Amino acid sequence: MIEFENLGKSNQRFFKQFQTEFNSFSNSGWYVLGERVQNFEREFAEYIGTKYCIGVASGLDALILSLKALELPKGGEVIVPANTYIATILAIINADLTPVLVEPNLDSYNISPAAVVASLGPQTCAILCVHMYGNPCEMNSLVEICKNNNLKLIEDVAQAHGSTYFEKKLGSFGNTGAFSFYPTKNLGALGDAGAIVTDDEELAKKLTALRNYGSHSKYNFEYLGMNSRLDAIQAGFLSIKLRELDSMLEHKRKLAKLYLENLNSEFIIPSEKKGLKNTYHIFPIRHPKRDLLKKFLEENGIKTEIHYPIPPHKQKCMQDRFEAEYPITEDIHQTILSLPISFGHSEDDVLKVIEALNSFAQESK
Ligand SMILES: Cc1ncc(COP(=O)(O)O)c(C=O)c1O
Repeated sequence: MIEFENLGKSNQRFFKQFQTEFNSFSNSGWYVLGERVQNFEREFAEYIGTKYCIGVASGLDALILSLKALELPKGGEVIVPANTYIATILAIINADLTPVLVEPNLDSYNISPAAVVASLGPQTCAILCVHMYGNPCEMNSLVEICKNNNLKLIEDVAQAHGSTYFEKKLGSFGNTGAFSFYPTKNLGALGDAGAIVTDDEELAKKLTALRNYGSHSKYNFEYLGMNSRLDAIQAGFLSIKLRELDSMLEHKRKLAKLYLENLNSEFIIPSEKKGLKNTYHIFPIRHPKRDLLKKFLEENGIKTEIHYPIPPHKQKCMQDRFEAEYPITEDIHQTILSLPISFGHSEDDVLKVIEALNSFAQESK
């Protein structure tokens, strides 16, 4: 059986260090924010190449707090890809702003700069781009559009820790970059966690207060904030894993290369573009008989996932909110399949998956 992901297996190499960290953490008597969080914030900012990092409770909060801190006009329109995970859109709604969905490009699954330009209007105040599955968006175009139209740029980097656009890490292009450290992510905690990175000192100060009830100093509340503090123990675990992140990403890229070089041409595979480094949080393929393929793989002992089966605009909670059609997004949701690719998988595992996929391609001809 080849599992889609086994977090216990992926994290096994860190267990000893986690135990030492936990003993020191419990003895310290300091469980929320504090030194461990500050250390991780410094290390992660350095890793991404930004001046500041603010640890928060989740990726969703990192997005909500980014939008709140930027003081965008109430009800203002935020352009966002229609095929993102629902959290991106929920963040916009939770920040009292209006999501404007635009179609992605089929070859990258990322927001199309041309579709962004076509969606600009007098109420547009920001672009929230999402680096889907670990693949970098077209940052030069998006930064240019924001500059020319006086818009804020927020990057949703929940799926793209360590991915680069012409050598520059994602998250360092926007006014803020919002990260999730949900356990399945490339840099995953042992629970919920997130962070915001920025080069803007004022924004960083404000975000530091906003995550802590809007307070810079004890019992003085400057802003209407949230309780979205990063747990000290999660920060400790994340610091340990951050040291190995690049080698873990290289492992995933090696597995991705096997898929890219050996899968039958019947499968639509991610396109690798010059200058863009994808870290493959997910390895998606597309096939018109996706559901049959998923079943076939399951019968052959291979677990896969679908990211995502129902697009946000078709979800019950979004009923009546979006009237337009999003055919590209719907096509992606109907045909996409995520293959096993994790730190816990070996090259042998991936070769077995490839063999099964290629025999499906032969049989279904
Ligand atoms: C693109 C994207 N944005 C935001 C989030 C939200 O992150 P979290 O689950 O940490 O709140 C996720 C989580 O899966 C995500 O995939």
